[in-house]
Amino acid sequence: MKKESSLSEEIIDVALVRGFVFPSAEIYGGAAGTYDYGPIGTLIKNKIVNLWRQRFIYEETDHNIRIWEMSGSRLLPEPVFVASGHLEKFNDPLTQCKSCKKSFRVDHVLEDYEVEVTDGTPLEELTEKVKEVGAVCPKCKGELSEAREFNMMFKTQLGATGGHNAYLRPETAQNIFVSFRRLTHSMRAKLPFGIAQIGQSYRNEISPRNFLIRMREFTQMEIEYFVAPEHLIDYPKFDEVASSIIRLVTREMHEKGEKAMDIEVEEAVEQKLLPNQPLAYILALETEFLQLLGVPYEKFWFRHMSPEETAHYSGGNYDLEVDSDYGVIEIVGNAYRQDHDLQCHAKASKTKLRIEHDGKMIVPHVVEPSLGLDRIFYTVLESCYRNDETRTWTWFAFPPHIAPIEVAVFPLRKKPEELIESTIELYLDLKDIGLDVFYDDSGNIGKRYARADEIGIPFCVTMDLESSKDDCVTIRDRDSTDQVRVLTEDLASILQMLIDSELTFVELKEKYSIDEGLVEE
Ligand code: ATP
Ligand code: GLY
Repeated sequence: MKKESSLSEEIIDVALVRGFVFPSAEIYGGAAGTYDYGPIGTLIKNKIVNLWRQRFIYEETDHNIRIWEMSGSRLLPEPVFVASGHLEKFNDPLTQCKSCKKSFRVDHVLEDYEVEVTDGTPLEELTEKVKEVGAVCPKCKGELSEAREFNMMFKTQLGATGGHNAYLRPETAQNIFVSFRRLTHSMRAKLPFGIAQIGQSYRNEISPRNFLIRMREFTQMEIEYFVAPEHLIDYPKFDEVASSIIRLVTREMHEKGEKAMDIEVEEAVEQKLLPNQPLAYILALETEFLQLLGVPYEKFWFRHMSPEETAHYSGGNYDLEVDSDYGVIEIVGNAYRQDHDLQCHAKASKTKLRIEHDGKMIVPHVVEPSLGLDRIFYTVLESCYRNDETRTWTWFAFPPHIAPIEVAVFPLRKKPEELIESTIELYLDLKDIGLDVFYDDSGNIGKRYARADEIGIPFCVTMDLESSKDDCVTIRDRDSTDQVRVLTEDLASILQMLIDSELTFVELKEKYSIDEGLVEE
């Protein structure tokens, strides 16, 4: 049954009942900002990760550059975060209600009064703004305290007697910097190269909210690209994307409230709107990646962050922002970190973090795309969610390569027994050749189509009583709900073409006949 609510509320409802995402430890009231991915959500999440690995690691690696993946510890000792600056600076502005004692992020409280606050606004200014607009506690309307810094890292102690402070990593990146020496030696790395990592990061967000957008435990997919200074102006793979178009909002455009412009990455670098070629390259790759995930080109852009929103050592931050039901959200942070991280860890650990390049030992520069998997997952759900007139149930138009299941196989009826047997046989055959298949014979065929649509399965195959006589089955297309009858012996290759987007369902309808098969023009 459809019902009237906001898009994000509808998606949360659907996520709960269809096995996508649930609040963690729900029967105990949950822990704010923590979520479990259910079986269907996990399948989709894994497909997104596979596509990231495919596009950003395997396809990227060639004679020009190697990208390796590592898996670091989530628990890191205090000196790491002293050196990285997280202990001192990884703070959010907090205010506390003087009556009910609840804590809030000051910028979030001010947003409710339509006061826009940029990251990095000084605490005194925030306190002043709270007074100016008369902001009160969102829960009990009590008086709010002055703004103060709150460090977002989760702290713990190592060992039974304690004494050694450790923290859950707030970003995956630090593992890569602190293991730089081992990584470069063991892999005999040559510049440019990249180290990728996917894994959980932890931030004790003051007010986790908006479902998967602000969590306390979330997953990042990050890559640190290590480059020599000359690669900044002459990156070996830049020509591959030079004429790609990206959507960009410059600082000036943002100040004037202007919408994103389309620009060729080469031109953006020439006009100095982007700081270097590797960063421009990454933005082109992300543009392609999001579209492969089914996010429309018009829905996202890169914004050059203002100086207040940017760390002092950064040579430029460009957030990938998405227009969502929660407003504009950042789903990827892109940063030119210069040589800051390696320099500060080298100094603090008294270890040389350098690499040989052209006969000299140098500290390489770093360009970093930091993709937030959970925010991307939500964006994919929002982009692919359909509540339209084509059917009486809601459905997801996932591109086939990220759908949780590629093909559902059904017998038209539950009888006779031979029909069930031959349908199960067909299902197992398709599974054997590596398709992601699901078998279902419960309820009637209409209900099964609806259930398949509801989790975004792109193709259903139905066997009926005729199938044993004419050796044919019916393929149903999720998006159009159209059907085409094909020979069982042609089924696997047709499904593979449909899944790989080498054939559209419209083309299948036009070009396929039982007698002649698929006729190429
Ligand atoms: P925000 O300003 O929204 O808090 P951020 O600037 O702190 O985000 P980054 O530090 O750039 O985010 O982190 C890189 C990516 O990690 C983000 O683009 C986002 O996708 C993801 N991320 C960061 N914090 C969270 C969170 N609390 N919940 C879910 N994902 C997050
Ligand atoms: N590594 C970038 C970030 O998490 O902010």
